[in-house]
Amino acid sequence: MMLNKRKVVIVGTGMVGMSFAYALLNQNVCDELVLIDINKKRAEGEAADLNHGVAFSSSSMRIYAGNYSDCSDADIVAICAGANQKPGESRLELLQRNTAVFKSIVGPVVRSGFGGVFLVATNPVDIMTRITCELSNFNPSRVVGTGTTLDSARLRYLVGDYFSVDPRNVHAYVIGEHGDSEFVPWSQALISTKRITDIVEKSGDQYSLEDLDKISGLVRGAAQHIIEAKGATYYGIGMAMVRIAKAILQNQNSVLTVSVRLRGEYGKKGVFIGNPAIINKNGVDRTIELELTPDELERMENSCTLLDECFNSIEL
Ligand SMILES: NC(=O)c1ccc[n+]([C@@H]2O[C@H](COP(=O)([O-])OP(=O)(O)OC[C@H]3O[C@@H](n4cnc5c(N)ncnc54)[C@H](O)[C@@H]3O)[C@@H](O)[C@H]2O)c1
Repeated sequence: MMLNKRKVVIVGTGMVGMSFAYALLNQNVCDELVLIDINKKRAEGEAADLNHGVAFSSSSMRIYAGNYSDCSDADIVAICAGANQKPGESRLELLQRNTAVFKSIVGPVVRSGFGGVFLVATNPVDIMTRITCELSNFNPSRVVGTGTTLDSARLRYLVGDYFSVDPRNVHAYVIGEHGDSEFVPWSQALISTKRITDIVEKSGDQYSLEDLDKISGLVRGAAQHIIEAKGATYYGIGMAMVRIAKAILQNQNSVLTVSVRLRGEYGKKGVFIGNPAIINKNGVDRTIELELTPDELERMENSCTLLDECFNSIEL
């Protein structure tokens, strides 16, 4: 991977893809940005619109609408293409529609000679990440999904608010499927070096486990809540993607709850699921197996089973 010219390709220049692109430009994360969409005219329009903002940014990014041959020397190909979640529609129901879309994308990217990392955002993201891995035949470490990265950020914000602590000092994760079976392993959640469950227990009536449960519920329902209010979610995920892209392009070894392939953690193999992993220029350097309580382990196993069943129902 070339670290001197940082190149990102975005496939799917809809709301999510362009929120990612806009955040990349504003945070000056790469040197070259290529936009690809089945609707070429849209990609061209988006490239022109962003280019007109370059004069006002701190970046001298080269931005253009391209095609799959442009992936050959990219560091990251981000896939945000696909159908959007409709109100009331589960992420898993999107699966069938998006599988066909991915077949038309992953093959041409691989044939370009792409040697970087796939970053997948399209929902249902854990399944689409696994599909990308299967279709590309890449080492799973080079295929990363956004997983529960955004959910963990939402959690840290809400926990920080509840305990009146800067979210950056909250170390808590949402793990599992990016969807209805995701959960918070509270046994692993810390504020600074203190276990949150201990803080609650010692607080008398000030804090409660019921309130923590409510926070988990708010995180789980956040996407649906936003979709009901404004039709889709995109700014938050765009910024979460920038966070992952920075970890890759800057070789940061950051811990992020991306969608990764399990290799025996929690007794599971093969499934892609949201779990803390160390991310650097090679993609997933290693995953971190949490010491879950029996109840949390059961929830993780349920989430894995659901994703496995869903993946196995697809004809690739
Ligand atoms: N992972 C997350 O946390 C998260 C959050 C929000 C949205 N999403 C998902 O991201 C995806 C995109 O959402 P959006 O709001 O940007 O949708 P959108 O409809 O605005 O954009 C989708 C884009 O994909 C393009 N596209 C469709 N088929 C294509 C193909 N075969 N090749 C190339 N481009 C193609 C469309 O032309 C369109 O521009 C959805 O699956 C959505 O559910 C994920």
